[in-house]
Amino acid sequence: MLDMQTQSVPADQALAMPCSLRSVRNEGTRIEVEFDDGSAGQLSMRWLRLACECETCGDTASGKRWLTPADVPADARATSIEISSGGKMDVVWQDGHVSRFAASFLAAHAGRVGDPGAERFRPVLWSSNLAGRLGCFAFDAVVEDDEALFQSLRALRDHGIAMLTGVPAEPEATLRVAGRYGPVRETSYGKVFDLISRPDARVAGETARAQIPHTDEPFRYSPPGFIFFHAIRTGAGSGGTSLMVDGFQVAERMRRDTPHLFDLLARHGVTFHREHAGDVFFSAEAHVISLDASGAVTGIRYNDRCLAPQAGSIEEIDGLIEALAELTRLICNPADQFQHQLQPGEVLVFDNQRVLHGRTAFDPTRAVRHLRSCNLDRDGVHSAFRTLARRFAPQEAEAVLYQGAIL
Ligand SMILES: [Fe+2]
Repeated sequence: MLDMQTQSVPADQALAMPCSLRSVRNEGTRIEVEFDDGSAGQLSMRWLRLACECETCGDTASGKRWLTPADVPADARATSIEISSGGKMDVVWQDGHVSRFAASFLAAHAGRVGDPGAERFRPVLWSSNLAGRLGCFAFDAVVEDDEALFQSLRALRDHGIAMLTGVPAEPEATLRVAGRYGPVRETSYGKVFDLISRPDARVAGETARAQIPHTDEPFRYSPPGFIFFHAIRTGAGSGGTSLMVDGFQVAERMRRDTPHLFDLLARHGVTFHREHAGDVFFSAEAHVISLDASGAVTGIRYNDRCLAPQAGSIEEIDGLIEALAELTRLICNPADQFQHQLQPGEVLVFDNQRVLHGRTAFDPTRAVRHLRSCNLDRDGVHSAFRTLARRFAPQEAEAVLYQGAIL
């Protein structure tokens, strides 16, 4: 059902595939390794010395690490490199220290060092055509079966959105299923938030008005990572259709069609705020489009209702408002909106730093609309994905995932 896309398939697969060393060659500042399947690569000696995981140097995976980068001399050299009888590579360094590296470790890293794009996961972009590709998973399955849970986490990684079905209409069920994906974040609105249309609305979600697609709480330094929308009661036929937009798709359109506006949103800080007088006052200046070190889009934060009056020169501000206007036009284009009328028992799970959510207006006199929502931090969800990938798809466990709306 889902496309698996990592740029580094050959190297990542090496983590899971048995491979053996054919030869190793000491080239002074670097080492050349060749494998039985004919593949070959190079590693820096300084990198290799730092990568030693003997008892003295420590273990990077769990963080009990004793060797620091400052302990590795710039001119780290090996006096001897051999393939041991067990098929590992034994290195004796100039100070007499001995390191031992598994062939699979060398295969996974040779040739990738220094290439910032090599290990990054590339998301699968979507527009209004998501319906045929949306991952749907039964409540019972994701609660009881780790492999089903993993498949849903994979769908979240790929598309930033997934659907859960058959979720009972009880508060415990919302937390029970959300807790499978990571720790639930407690905020100033509590752990579980009931969005019910009401006349004394505190936030826009409690009104019956239409909402253009947005990410939630961009005024936090670290906005919610993943959001669970649990439909308890919905007014089928009275409006309130969910509008979901892939922010990465929209950002790529901007990059292609109006690169100067894309650039403004990726490089100019925008201030978002939210104040309930005497209670809370949040404010964060951040990029609307976050890029990673390779220039790929890694996160989106945008909610027109939380925009603060911006600071800057008149030229800067006018340019920035035009960029925000273009972004707003793009996310309101139905061709890029996946539209879905939520049914009771469904939970829409989405990446709040990638996917924008909105809804059409509804008629509060014809139906009560009740959604229960909770938030998870994105690193908890990605940690659950990696932990289960170790069991069900080891070659996918180590790819660098897009890290969200970093400041
Ligand atoms: Fe929202």
